[in-house]
Amino acid sequence: MADKQVGKEKRLTIDELATFCKRKGFVYPNSEIYGGMSGFFDYGPLGVELKNGIKQEWWKSHVQQRADMVGMDGSIIAHPKVWEASGHVANFTDIMAKCGKCGNSARADHIIEDKAKVATAGLNAQQLGELLVKHKLKCARCGSDQLRIAQPFNLMFKTTIGPSEGSESVAYLRPETAQLIFANFRLVQENARMKLPFGIAQVGKAFRNEISPRDFLFRCREFEQMEIEYFVHPNKIGSCPYVAEFGDYELNVLTSDMQKKGSNDHKRMKVSEMLDKKTILPWHAYWLAFEHRWLTGLGAKAENLRIRQHVQTEKSHYATDTWDLEYDFPFGWKELEGIANRSDFDLQQHIKVSGKDLSYFDPETNTKIVPHVVAEPSLGVDRTFLVFLFDAYEYDVKRENVVLHIHPRLAPIKAAVFPLLSNKDELVAAAKKVYDELRQEFNCFYDENGSIGRRYARMDEAGTPYCITVDFDSLQKHDVTIRDRDSTQQKRVKIKELSSVLQQLLSGKKNFGEI
Ligand code: GLY
Repeated sequence: MADKQVGKEKRLTIDELATFCKRKGFVYPNSEIYGGMSGFFDYGPLGVELKNGIKQEWWKSHVQQRADMVGMDGSIIAHPKVWEASGHVANFTDIMAKCGKCGNSARADHIIEDKAKVATAGLNAQQLGELLVKHKLKCARCGSDQLRIAQPFNLMFKTTIGPSEGSESVAYLRPETAQLIFANFRLVQENARMKLPFGIAQVGKAFRNEISPRDFLFRCREFEQMEIEYFVHPNKIGSCPYVAEFGDYELNVLTSDMQKKGSNDHKRMKVSEMLDKKTILPWHAYWLAFEHRWLTGLGAKAENLRIRQHVQTEKSHYATDTWDLEYDFPFGWKELEGIANRSDFDLQQHIKVSGKDLSYFDPETNTKIVPHVVAEPSLGVDRTFLVFLFDAYEYDVKRENVVLHIHPRLAPIKAAVFPLLSNKDELVAAAKKVYDELRQEFNCFYDENGSIGRRYARMDEAGTPYCITVDFDSLQKHDVTIRDRDSTQQKRVKIKELSSVLQQLLSGKKNFGEI
């Protein structure tokens, strides 16, 4: 079995992770009984819990625990003018290569990266076209060397509204959640009485008609984003009151200058050093460090993360500067989260196209201004899901099974409850009573099938941090054993204290050694 060959020293491939996810009920290929749909996935019982856990943790730490943040939830389909104003109708495109012989089309950068093993970040259509010819790249369908750059392909999914199929009813599925924040900026700011600097956050689905969806959940056609637009007064974009907190924080850094000099190797730098060297603006540095700390605090490994600045030609049409928080995926360093400086581009565009006043009244100067989005942390839920699974996965040679060291706060099942023996009615009844009480508070699982060892192994694979066993002593002493997934240590805990002990363990107030 593929899982067995993976020890601590060898990381999983993306296909091995997909196999594991299907076997355990994290993620299934979409509509598999009909042959599947490329670029779409369904989350199973464990997957939906992990995904919801990620979104809940993000919302709590990015919105509810911060005084400078509020949330909203926009619709997936909006007025088409939203996407004209935002520039997505004109600019949200991928560069295509088309075969002059058979007509087959594919993304030019993907063909070059896959076949010629050449990095393509930031290359324009002409440069990609030259590489197709230089490396004599062939059409994947007919094998001819007639691949040439074709018309760009717009990634927005189109739909029609109402019974008419005329052009007046065309609409788009949103390719980013961000625009609904801009379109509602004035209402949200006034309703929540937010004062600059402040952010508006949103979690939700987005859709991109990817030409070649691939790498499991990494590049899908339907995905979910956790996005923030962080608004700052245009006169205050150069100073961030919060960045000092991260002065000594270290990040792996790859600047655009380093890339221009031909390097793809990052350098470890303190945030203060980056600010002193003016490598980055303070707000941008703050949000990169904040996001890095959030990810590592929930189990992402710092050595697998770096920040990389976009080179000039790679930036989106709305961005003045973009840094990606990248993860070392099995298929290379790739974007986990993009953090763009969108300046006042979007608000100005919506002001221009809608004719509505979306400015902010600055009470300090009694003037109207248009705020700048100095940072737009835009994190993919599905990519974050991959990262937490990759960094949690271990094939434990001693246990001879997979142990998913997922952070207890994210674990899909918080505790499993077992009777020591399934053929003893009094043990089964006592275990079910414990289970019925605990699941009112935590997502729990009851299991009486197979040996205790097999039940522990199944829960280790599901990432369940604590297993609770009711044994014969439990009937006399009203206590149970609680087993820690990572250390396999066991302790006895009184049944009446079980809920508060679990609460303390899951919240991180106590570690297993302290109970
Ligand atoms: N809103 C930025 C993005 O979707 O990439």
